[in-house]
Amino acid sequence: GTVVLAYSGGLDTSCILVWLKEQGYDVIAFLANIGQDEDFDSARKKAENLGAKKVFIEDLRSEFVEHFILPAVQANAVYEDRYLLGTALARPCIARRLVQIAQKEQAEFISHGATGKGNDQIRFELTSYALYSDVKVIAPWRIPEFYNRFKGRKDLMEYAQKNDIPLPITPKAPWSMDANLMHISYESGVLEDPKCSAPTDLYLMTKNPDEAPNVPDVLEIEFKNGVPIKVTNVKAGSSKDKPLEMFMYLNEIGGKHGVGRIDIVENRFIGMKSRGIYETPGGTILLQAHLDIETFTMDKEVRRIKQGLGIKFSELVYNGFWYSPECDFLLHCINKSQENVEGKVQLSVYKGQVYILGRESPKSLYNEDLVSMDKQGDYDPCDASGFIRVNAVRYVRIKSQTSKTT
Ligand code: ARG
Ligand code: SIN
Repeated sequence: GTVVLAYSGGLDTSCILVWLKEQGYDVIAFLANIGQDEDFDSARKKAENLGAKKVFIEDLRSEFVEHFILPAVQANAVYEDRYLLGTALARPCIARRLVQIAQKEQAEFISHGATGKGNDQIRFELTSYALYSDVKVIAPWRIPEFYNRFKGRKDLMEYAQKNDIPLPITPKAPWSMDANLMHISYESGVLEDPKCSAPTDLYLMTKNPDEAPNVPDVLEIEFKNGVPIKVTNVKAGSSKDKPLEMFMYLNEIGGKHGVGRIDIVENRFIGMKSRGIYETPGGTILLQAHLDIETFTMDKEVRRIKQGLGIKFSELVYNGFWYSPECDFLLHCINKSQENVEGKVQLSVYKGQVYILGRESPKSLYNEDLVSMDKQGDYDPCDASGFIRVNAVRYVRIKSQTSKTT
């Protein structure tokens, strides 16, 4: 049979490619460009040399921003109050193309290099089953003949040497990384001890806030329908208005000022807690700006319901259910909630922080006359007396009950 392998160009998936061939499969390699730092030409040659029947390398960056990152911005998607879901959002984007290729190439099988203990296996496979229900999955890290043969990196290196798989030129970092346009995640290896802090040279997307410039960058971000449509650097007078360019520019500014670093222990879907370190510079700026313009333009009670939906949405994304009926439903609700979320937010980016400076919107629900301490507005202060007394009604009842029992 034919198998389409989610190929990364690294040691693990190179060994998997050769191993699958050894098992008698025709292997098609698929490498998605989702903004990771990679030499795609040499990755293509490498996969061809390893005996891939075909190699697909596709630039999914715009699709990743427009169809995955921006809906997450609308949702204020954050898992367990801190993780902005950079890996979780990329997986359905990659797996969707993976199974499209499998269907086009009439391949019965897909394969990936995710371990049997993590979230990524779930995300790859749930997406694959949702979009290609008959697909058969080969997950080598869950197959005893594979994982008993490759017990560690040493075994992979030996296998690589025997099979003319080029060894990585750069020594492997003592942790596992997942890089894309939105973030880089770091986990396992020396990071597994949760009290041991990350070395300062671990971070690749962001400067250490201590060493960031002493002068802030001031940005104006314009939103429409809850997504950014223009990012302007106020002092430089330059702006961007295409989703991918805007996002890359926000990464650059956030990275320069050390924005979006977190070090957390999170709950994997599979059940165990895991320690992860993340840097999400552009995503963090957008989250802060979006929260601000949303509160400014959205009805109070709608906002409360929508906030709950955002938490649920984040859980679904984390757990791999992007392509599920419930997630589809939430995406529609969240998008509907954004129809008045428009306007401009001014902010400064400085020493690891995003400081909101001001906002303006044609859809603002803010009424300066109504809230002012200097004007009456369309409001009678006498009404507040009754409002407060009515809210205190239940206190009185509790008091009389307690006085009866004592
Ligand atoms: N723990 C994060 C998540 O589940 C990051 C996973 C990183 N994946 C990786 N293959 N290194 O989204
Ligand atoms: C992996 O297991 O492949 C990485 C970690 C995860 O998916 O959670």
